[in-house]
Amino acid sequence: MKRVLSGIQPTAESFHLGNYLGAVRQWVELQKTHDAFYCVVDLHALTVETEPAVLRRRTLVAAAQLIALGLDPDKCTLFIQSHVPEHNQLGWVLECLAGFGEASRMTQFKDKSQKSGADRTVVGLFTYPILQAADIMLYQANLVPVGEDQRQHIELTRDLGQRFNSRYGQTFVIPEAYILKSAAKINDLQDPTAKMSKSAASNAGVIDILDAADINVKKIKSAVTDTGKEIVFDEKNKPGISNLLSIHSALSGNSIKDLENQFAGKGYGDFKSAVAEVVTDFFAPVRQKTQELLADEAALLQLLAVGSQKARDVAAKTLAQTYSALGLVPPKL
Ligand code: TRP
Repeated sequence: MKRVLSGIQPTAESFHLGNYLGAVRQWVELQKTHDAFYCVVDLHALTVETEPAVLRRRTLVAAAQLIALGLDPDKCTLFIQSHVPEHNQLGWVLECLAGFGEASRMTQFKDKSQKSGADRTVVGLFTYPILQAADIMLYQANLVPVGEDQRQHIELTRDLGQRFNSRYGQTFVIPEAYILKSAAKINDLQDPTAKMSKSAASNAGVIDILDAADINVKKIKSAVTDTGKEIVFDEKNKPGISNLLSIHSALSGNSIKDLENQFAGKGYGDFKSAVAEVVTDFFAPVRQKTQELLADEAALLQLLAVGSQKARDVAAKTLAQTYSALGLVPPKL
């Protein structure tokens, strides 16, 4: 079985619909056919200053949601990044391999550091992609399911892996980005030409999975629509309706064509009510399951401890091989 690895940051109180349809849903599928490792990358989240109690809660909420959304700790290895110290250890090794210029060219770093200015940009933001490379290569992952925005980080990972292998001998599997073209692209409800994102200016266009049904119904009913009154998929002229069709289709499993037929002659109001119902029906059990998992924190931490142990077994082996290849003297046992 090929191995996959991916990570998600615990930077919000809830995942949003775009996270689910763009990433987590693929993770759930991949655990059936692959040896899958998934981590909540809490160390990456430290690049943004966060209240400790908030980071703690978000990390547990992220893990609970992943399980509630279908990751099965018996089928995949689900863990918290900071539970596996080898990530930081391999991270340092890779930092000593990465060029300063190479890291400076990462567009995510450039965007984020430009926004906040050099003095308010932490060094961790600069080395972020190198820690990400360590996340991936520690597990000898073949495939990394990520969104298009992460492609450059996976390229960097490959470059670092190849550089290490050619200098020090075959050590790392060179991973490939696994970017699902067919994954539903979900846009903001208020600005349907922009991707649904937690960094949107307003939360009004973002469906948070854990929000109460009435909040999400309201957001969907207030979604921006387009001129005209037909319910047809036309991203260029009808981005609002097209986005709602994509959401309905992705969650109900009905094809866009079927939906267009089903809603022929009906108004935007009826259609929005139907979308709202599909969304709230889909996420009600997820919300419930997440709350149940969070209610018994000890049991949740136990599940995660099993994952961390499985992860460490693999990570420790890769790190030992890496250290040995570099000529670091192992301690006498
Ligand atoms: N940078 C990724 C993101 O923002 C998160 C991430 C961290 C990740 N480590 C990873 C993704 C390893 C894939 C593999 O989405």
